[in-house]
Amino acid sequence: MPAIVLLGAQWGDEGKGKATDVLADRIDYCVRFNGGNNAGHTIVIDGETYAMHLLPTGILTPGVTAVIGNGVVIDLAVLFEEIDLLAARGVDVSRLVVSANAHVITGYHRTIDKVTERFLGKARIGTTGRGIGPAYADKMSRVGIRVQDLFDEKILRQKIEGALDQKNQLLVKVYNRRAIDPNSVADELLGYAERLRPLVADTTKLLNEALDVGKTVLLEAGQGTMLDVDHGTYPFVTSSNATAGGACTGSGIGPTRIDRVVGVVKAYTTRVGSGPFPTELHDVDGETLRRVGAEFGVTTGRPRRCGWFDAVVVRYAARVNGATDLVLTKLDVLSAFDRVPVCVAYRLPDGTVVDDMPMTQTDFHHVTPVYEELPGWKEDISTARDLDDLPKNARRYVELLQEAVGMPFSVIGVGPGREQTIQTRDLVGPRSAP
Ligand code: GDP
Ligand code: IMO
Ligand code: MG
Repeated sequence: MPAIVLLGAQWGDEGKGKATDVLADRIDYCVRFNGGNNAGHTIVIDGETYAMHLLPTGILTPGVTAVIGNGVVIDLAVLFEEIDLLAARGVDVSRLVVSANAHVITGYHRTIDKVTERFLGKARIGTTGRGIGPAYADKMSRVGIRVQDLFDEKILRQKIEGALDQKNQLLVKVYNRRAIDPNSVADELLGYAERLRPLVADTTKLLNEALDVGKTVLLEAGQGTMLDVDHGTYPFVTSSNATAGGACTGSGIGPTRIDRVVGVVKAYTTRVGSGPFPTELHDVDGETLRRVGAEFGVTTGRPRRCGWFDAVVVRYAARVNGATDLVLTKLDVLSAFDRVPVCVAYRLPDGTVVDDMPMTQTDFHHVTPVYEELPGWKEDISTARDLDDLPKNARRYVELLQEAVGMPFSVIGVGPGREQTIQTRDLVGPRSAP
């Protein structure tokens, strides 16, 4: 013990990578449990920037074992490219373990991701095009390819043939594309088998045994609560469980072993891709958030949609995750503004004000934010290391957010660097009273 889950409490890109990195010298294992290379986690250490897609952030910290759990979908080309890039920069990549049960993203998953998005036209999700959805769809349809299948050539070829039987009909007859040759897919995957084999293990056993002997395990989510396939803004979501329950199923650690659930939230809101976003700004303030916050996707380079902090979303996220702690990031970005509104409730089209997520997606599409507005601080706060170092108006903003969300912030980020952090509560170790 303990196991700590660290996840996004908005629409992704909350700063999970940095939050994980801040804890990394206190943990023994860092586990990715959901998603794949749709994620992009940026970490800045001593001025050096690292962008992680598939590898857990903890791999950057000496002594931490990085684990890719069974809940992840793995594009093997991306995995080895990422390993090689880090190794070339002097990172020790020898402590990486990959679950034998994790599913593999193949070329046909990427193809299907792209053609279905094209076919959806205006109704498209705005996926990252990495084959994530089709790979999870195959997993649920029980025609997926798992890491362990690469070590049994006969089975692998059979499974790929089976998976492509239907897909090729669809690709040729509906999408007007060329059929995919199962042998070429199998040959490509088999090309990775030898390099992959020494990394593969029963990670569920490994992690539970580590907890048995008192090691600290951090479970690092990809995406965010509002992109969770069950609890997010469906269908404008990713295809995995990015919430705390996903940490259990995606790693094989039981819920009774999780001590802390840390939700990461940005001091404003962003989202990439399509779907409802009540506080989205289409004006100069939105552009300022994007410019000052450098809100461009780490994975696809797309500009992120930007808006004010939405306390309704974060309250909801704290609830569905059973959050014990919150980390606030990018407070420094708001130094650019004369005034900082916070959405504390929603107004429905009939005028009713609600302070909870509406039950239906139709209602959520039509809410307008109810704002409380505070004066800005217009002061550089990037060197603050203690709450007392913050200007009065910045402290008021943090207090309003805490009140609106109903929880305190254990950590506050004032810049991308590892050291640009205000710590108010310890996140590792036994839960302290709020
Ligand atoms: P993730 O996907 O949740 O890990 O988040 P991303 O890495 O996609 O996006 C967060 C961005 O904000 C990255 O570029 C981080 O380096 C940066 N960042 C994280 N925390 C802070 C902070 O407190 N202040 C500032 N200015 N940038 C931050
Ligand atoms: P991190 O881990 C932000 C979004 C995509 C799209 C939707 C579905 O960096 O926070 P997918 O390719 O997963 O099928 O796309 O989910 N999305 C993310 N948005 N951050 C992410 O990851 C995301 N991963 C997926 O933009 O709207
Ligand atoms: Mg990201």
